[in-house]
Amino acid sequence: MSSIRSLSAYSVLSSNGMPTVEVKITLQSGITAHAAAPKGQSCGKFEKTEHRDQDGLRVSEALRMCEFTVAPAFIGRDSADHLDLDKTLMSLAHDGKPLPSNVTLPVSIALAIAHSKEIGQDLSHYIGGISQHATIPIPCINMINGGIHGNNQSLLQEYLILPHGASSFSEAISWAVTICHNLKLNLKKKGLLAGVGDEGGFVLATDSVTAPFDILLESIHTSGLSDAHVSLGIDCAASGYYHKHMYVDYPGLPGEKQSAEVSTFLKNLAQTYPITYIEDPFSEEDLNAWASFDVEAHIIGDDLFATNAKRLNNVSHQAANGIMIKPNQVGTLSDTMQTIMQARLLGYNTVFAHRSADTEDTWISELAIGFQADMIKFGNIIRGERTAKYNALLRFFRIKNL
Ligand code: PGA
Ligand code: ZN
Repeated sequence: MSSIRSLSAYSVLSSNGMPTVEVKITLQSGITAHAAAPKGQSCGKFEKTEHRDQDGLRVSEALRMCEFTVAPAFIGRDSADHLDLDKTLMSLAHDGKPLPSNVTLPVSIALAIAHSKEIGQDLSHYIGGISQHATIPIPCINMINGGIHGNNQSLLQEYLILPHGASSFSEAISWAVTICHNLKLNLKKKGLLAGVGDEGGFVLATDSVTAPFDILLESIHTSGLSDAHVSLGIDCAASGYYHKHMYVDYPGLPGEKQSAEVSTFLKNLAQTYPITYIEDPFSEEDLNAWASFDVEAHIIGDDLFATNAKRLNNVSHQAANGIMIKPNQVGTLSDTMQTIMQARLLGYNTVFAHRSADTEDTWISELAIGFQADMIKFGNIIRGERTAKYNALLRFFRIKNL
């Protein structure tokens, strides 16, 4: 047991070339730990996240909150009390306002890491997964970026591959490697490659919402694989198109559309292509559409639940069968834990995810291992802030022979 000697916060770079907050905690024993805050760019309205800044000013404000509000409340407290300290974090106020999650989350995670180290464990071991992990999480790998992440509003935000038939995590990733490189070659041949997006997925020079499915399938087949090995997924990030109870310019559906038209459109896609994963098909406010959507797939709520246990409890009825776990949507490790427990009670799958603006920090991989994620979503396999997270899992599952 050791008390907190110091807590400092400073700015580091995020993958979108903007500053973000990193917190460093030092215990009396000399143990140190740090954690960085990721940032979303397509944030839901129920997120606690309050740092949609373009200029970094909110980061300096967050640094001041850490220095003047959090540090005085934390210094001298025992690191073993980190779950209690999460409550303190959520109750603290700066200038009369609750602390934003780019303050609460890096503090909460850095403290949990410091305490784990203090007792001779890494975070995942401390959380409890190491002895129990019997299956691998399915990686949902974002190969093509559309929407705001890919600067192409005609395409869905994410086109993912799910190597669900792999017998080990490393086999899943090696299939993704082959598919990714074949995809790049195929895109080049067709003159469709326009760059790489925020999450490492390719950016395409096409306005056909279905072209990404065709080319992904072609690339899966060129890789000697079929839909028995690898299926497809989409993140529609639908909240961004929802205005006054209508969807405006939903990818593939130009103009104003009712929820029922979006639903039919997505059902047709799921019948035409081997799609097994659909995230945020509807807005977080369009609960009736969620409830009547009857496609057989992983139906995942991201903006819908915002990693919030109460919200999950209130709107889970038939809405989905899985939930994104993005700790910065809710604020602390303990809040995240509560949501995971609630998800398990409801029989929901958990998808542990990065954010589109992220750092090379890997605490989300540690959480995915510790809490035994059903799925993970860390972007494509070709940008350092994404590969760092996959590599952490590759190291872990190699030891486990999974
Ligand atoms: P975000 O996007 O991190 O920009 O919110 C990721 C997602 O919607 O899953
Ligand atoms: Zn999403």
